[in-house]
Amino acid sequence: MSYGADLNFNYFAPTRVVFGVGSVSELPFEVGQLGRKAVLVTDEGLISAGMVDPVAKMLGAALAGIYTDIPQDSSMAVVDRAADYALSLGADVVVSLGGGSVMDTAKGMCLVMKEGGSLRDFQGMQMLTRSQTPHITIPTTAGTGSEVTSAAVVMDREQGQKILIYEYFITPQVAILDPKLTEKLPPGLTASTGMDALSHAVECYLSLQRNPISDSAALHAVRLITRFLPAAVDNGRDLAARGQMQLAALLAGWAFSNALLGLTHALAHALGAVCGLAHGLGNGILLPQVMRYNLEEVPGLLADIAAAMEGAPRGLEGREAGEAAVSGMEDFLKRIGHPTRLRDVGIEEGALRACADLALSDGSIIYNPRMVADAEEVLTVLKRAY
Ligand SMILES: [Fe+2]
Repeated sequence: MSYGADLNFNYFAPTRVVFGVGSVSELPFEVGQLGRKAVLVTDEGLISAGMVDPVAKMLGAALAGIYTDIPQDSSMAVVDRAADYALSLGADVVVSLGGGSVMDTAKGMCLVMKEGGSLRDFQGMQMLTRSQTPHITIPTTAGTGSEVTSAAVVMDREQGQKILIYEYFITPQVAILDPKLTEKLPPGLTASTGMDALSHAVECYLSLQRNPISDSAALHAVRLITRFLPAAVDNGRDLAARGQMQLAALLAGWAFSNALLGLTHALAHALGAVCGLAHGLGNGILLPQVMRYNLEEVPGLLADIAAAMEGAPRGLEGREAGEAAVSGMEDFLKRIGHPTRLRDVGIEEGALRACADLALSDGSIIYNPRMVADAEEVLTVLKRAY
């Protein structure tokens, strides 16, 4: 790895982190620091799992209301409805309890609650000029990193595409990471959300916009995930492993929020929009194939990834070491029981062309270290993963 004398970058990571088993009990204090009345944003699955009630009770009179109508892939319309609801309650703080879709919906809400109108009016990057409604995140998965990032990905059903909103002013003020809140996540979701985090770490380490600070966070995330994700999958109640996975997801989140991503995420977004494939599954399956695609461009960076991976072979150099990262990633997927082929998760081969076309217009593709020439190249990567 080398950086020239012309190295220059911004690094933005303003979210305060409250970590530890039982740390969710800090929520009332944190709400009191930011406002008077909080709207709690979550989903029906967490209500059924009995995880929302204790948090709602904890807030007492500071709870303005609970919004739960959030699907797996949120949309512009969902955000607008949720913001209207929060405004009708007079809420001045947003608390999101859930995974990526819940937290990204809440980020959109914070924006619409402050600026008015519809989220549709704010597509793009760095358009905001002032602070938005304050936001406290409480993630219940260890993957998305959304608890600390400046990004929200929301489906635009009119355009049939997932839209990235990237604004410093939608970065949450506080992230409460309580490992206990992730212990009920089943093994399959633990694996796929964990692979989302690992994709963030690998993609931003290879990104054209990487910098020394994001590099350090990304490589440590690779170490933590390859060491602790198998333990979290095998025994969900292993709170030490759960905690380390939460920290890994957060580190990878900070890293990619600054260094951005690449072709894996462009493809996962397209597979989500065209086929409804869950984000983590798409990333997990595509990651080794995109690493292989990038190998000729950045063998040294992939060798660094291999060196950080628990259990990867040592003593290799150059391209051979880079190849070890790719094969190590394929082995890792099998170790955690994650699907390895798109055909295994219900994707029709006939849908791949539309996914390739859509991925070409995804913002993440710009930062991929190997320039993607056309949709044919993307289709080749997808077919290798099929
Ligand atoms: Fe992701």
